[in-house]
Amino acid sequence: MTHRLKIHAGLRVEDIEVEADGRLIDALAKLDHSRIDSPCGGKALCGKCRLKLISGRLSAPDEREARLLSAAELSAGIRLACLARIEGDAEVELPERGEASIISAGPETVVEADPLVRLVAVMPEPSSLENQSDDETRLLEAIARELSRSHAPELAPSRVALGALPGLARYCRDQCALGSPAAAVVVDGAVLSVEALRPGARALGLGVDLGTTTVVCRLVDLVSGERLGSRSDLNAQRSFGADVISRIAAAESAEGLESLRSRITSQIASMARALTEEAGAAREDLVSIAIAGNTTMLHLLAGAPPDAIARTPFTPVFLGRRVESAAALGFVGHPGCAAILLPGVSGYVGADIVAGIMAIGLHEAEGRSFFLDLGTNGEIAFGGKAGIICCATAAGPAFEGAGIEKGTGGVTGAIDSVWVEDGSIRFGTIGNAPATGICGSGLVDALAVFLDCRLVDDTGRVVDEDERRALPPALAAMVEEGPRGPVVFLDRGRGIYLSQADVRAAQLAKAAIAAGIDTLLRVAGLGLGEVDRLYLAGGFGSLLDVRSATRIGLLPPELADRVIVVGNASGAGATAACISRRRLEDCDRARAACSYVELSSRPDFNEAYVERMMFPEPA
Ligand code: FES
Repeated sequence: MTHRLKIHAGLRVEDIEVEADGRLIDALAKLDHSRIDSPCGGKALCGKCRLKLISGRLSAPDEREARLLSAAELSAGIRLACLARIEGDAEVELPERGEASIISAGPETVVEADPLVRLVAVMPEPSSLENQSDDETRLLEAIARELSRSHAPELAPSRVALGALPGLARYCRDQCALGSPAAAVVVDGAVLSVEALRPGARALGLGVDLGTTTVVCRLVDLVSGERLGSRSDLNAQRSFGADVISRIAAAESAEGLESLRSRITSQIASMARALTEEAGAAREDLVSIAIAGNTTMLHLLAGAPPDAIARTPFTPVFLGRRVESAAALGFVGHPGCAAILLPGVSGYVGADIVAGIMAIGLHEAEGRSFFLDLGTNGEIAFGGKAGIICCATAAGPAFEGAGIEKGTGGVTGAIDSVWVEDGSIRFGTIGNAPATGICGSGLVDALAVFLDCRLVDDTGRVVDEDERRALPPALAAMVEEGPRGPVVFLDRGRGIYLSQADVRAAQLAKAAIAAGIDTLLRVAGLGLGEVDRLYLAGGFGSLLDVRSATRIGLLPPELADRVIVVGNASGAGATAACISRRRLEDCDRARAACSYVELSSRPDFNEAYVERMMFPEPA
């Protein structure tokens, strides 16, 4: 039995058929644009999958829904999509979502175009009674001559891939004898596709930073190396959960894995389509996609079960650089395109970190520096040309705005900065829009300010009623006892606050990262005085206020003046690897320079973690 579900999402209205008694979240998951927040992956834990029932029949709220929603919300028709079941035709309204503010710029350098993937225009000899060689041989000879002329004889392929044989046969039968040249996509010793050369054909590449939260794509010209445009979006797999562990759980069944795989390939393909259109190019002009992502994201993209990454000894199915046909990976509509998956170090230090290390040249640098990518997992690399050690800390999603009651991603309206002015606590939001929640940088700022104003003590406890009497009235008035403990309001009118549980979640996250830094220094046998620089990568790192980060003990204060914010280093690395073979090989060298330190088996990490839980005394 089925019912009709009418969905209002901004100006868009959609009417779909849904299974009777199915969960709303599953029905919405079928719509690419529905984008309902579900950081806990639909497990009724986060309370973020709110929507409004306009009319119709849903199951009555159970005690879990009553716990996660207030009585006022329930009576206003607010429901949780992962708990409410569809019991009849219904009409629902999704919450307005702010535009995601995604850091796409990275440490850009001029990269000389010398790509691994080439579009080679050739005129093979037509077959004749005098030359009865097979089509493949005649094509390979023509390509070898052309590559020799363009000073890249080492790229000459030795075979035509199976999937390209029908195109080769069609070209040789219909076009070759007419004198029309062929266009062959050549990569790693093989021809991936053959077709008649289209007038105005171009060779374009796409560098992709495939993050758990966001996806950033940059289009480049593989002949000139010119950057043609970039696009960023929230990862379309987000409805399966905010962190890699939820995605791994969602991919346990073959259908789940396929659903995650197809979501991300269609998202990247549609971003690529939009970028090629904007550049006035044809979809077929895209011949290379280089992808950097964490190890789980690359497994999901490749359709490889990632479950072992979540279990000790955390072994992935693959880590090495892969060059595949994009069509074989499920990129529909890109028959001649190659997909390069960049190499990773371990289950939790992936190709995104390797690409970032390559982009900033850490593996070739004198001295020793830190490279931090702070997201759901805080990945930390430390070293230089003498070798790099890496670790991953399970920081949890607090700095991504998940796991925080009023947390949100870096979207319009997110509180991203907090400061004290004339004795009052003030805040700023992304896009100067009315506050909708608190993102990672706002959380760090708020904690630093609350510590300075003594609203939170150095153990992370929000002050009690007695202690509040000693505070200036304006500050004391910010604290209120909630049903689950005290909360500190930032915007009372809009109900935006940090709860005691939020402070604890942030404490766990910052302690994990700080302890990771301590442990790598201990493994290297060095002190903070011997650290040259600390590179901060990623969206959160780019927005982070270094003073606040050192105030709460997330970063060592000794390194405050050595912090360099590098933005989307992973995306910059993927793009450079797409344009240049040397940069691609540099990724392999960076990966070879890295060794992984497993923190879960180190007692010194656990000790440091406990020690770093406290907030530091003011400087
Ligand atoms: S509570 Fe519904 S997705 Fe988390």
